[in-house]
Amino acid sequence: MSESEHYGGADVADRVLASLDPENIDRLAALDQFHVGGAAASRRLADRAGLREGLTVLDLGSGLGGPARLLADEFGADVTGIDLTPGFCRIAQELSVYAGFAETTRFCAANALVLPFADDSFDAIWTEHVAMNIGDREALYRELLRVTRPGGVLALYDMVAGPNVASFVYPVPWASEASQSHLIDADALRRVVSEAGWTARHFHDESAAALDWLANARPPKGVDGPTLRDVMGPDFPRMIANLRENFEAGRLEAVQAIFEK
Ligand SMILES: C[S@@+](CC[C@H](N)C(=O)[O-])C[C@H]1O[C@@H](n2cnc3c(N)ncnc32)[C@H](O)[C@@H]1O
Repeated sequence: MSESEHYGGADVADRVLASLDPENIDRLAALDQFHVGGAAASRRLADRAGLREGLTVLDLGSGLGGPARLLADEFGADVTGIDLTPGFCRIAQELSVYAGFAETTRFCAANALVLPFADDSFDAIWTEHVAMNIGDREALYRELLRVTRPGGVLALYDMVAGPNVASFVYPVPWASEASQSHLIDADALRRVVSEAGWTARHFHDESAAALDWLANARPPKGVDGPTLRDVMGPDFPRMIANLRENFEAGRLEAVQAIFEK
């Protein structure tokens, strides 16, 4: 299964947009915050990164665009999102038009390893739950350094391997099978980002917050519009259950970190 098949297949945008209720657009978090912890986790990362009015942000692996809209809405950022899955970019763009963020957010299909931007283009790089799909981390963090202006920041929120990763169970939200998953542990993450030329400013273990959210989050009641289950298909509840089991068994941990160029 290819990565774009894993992420909803070719008709994902038609399916999701057809079931969207434009009157109910303010209740999108069940759909468009595609990471453990939802909007609250994005706010924690933005606070740690010191994001503020007027900064230009590249959202790497922007998914359905929820984090980009949150950064524009609550932190005054101007956000460009790129994502490997074209259907997700289409959904993200249309949701931004519906929700009034067409001026401050934009999305295009691209591979994180070959970014269509000039050197020093952005004040900040933002990436949540994407690097687990990318094997060549050295190339990734070097490419991110290239498009960031000197003094700019990299804000990342990633799943990392725990000590018991050998018994990891699939499927999980980023991978149907092991060949799609490229987990490294927290020390290796810190090392590979630093070796690419970034300076670590903050490095937080988010595992407890992630597990708490997985244990307590419930599907929202009274939300008429589509949710991530509509995007990812009937296996999505099993992916979330496996995620929680992997955390509880010490196979998986979570990190939020800020680096500076
Ligand atoms: C779990 S989703 C996270 C989406 C979003 N960051 C969020 O938190 O709501 C992972 C996203 O990474 C994207 N992705 C995976 N590999 C990628 C790559 N090499 N380049 C760009 N995007 C990628 C997928 O298409 C998917 O939208």
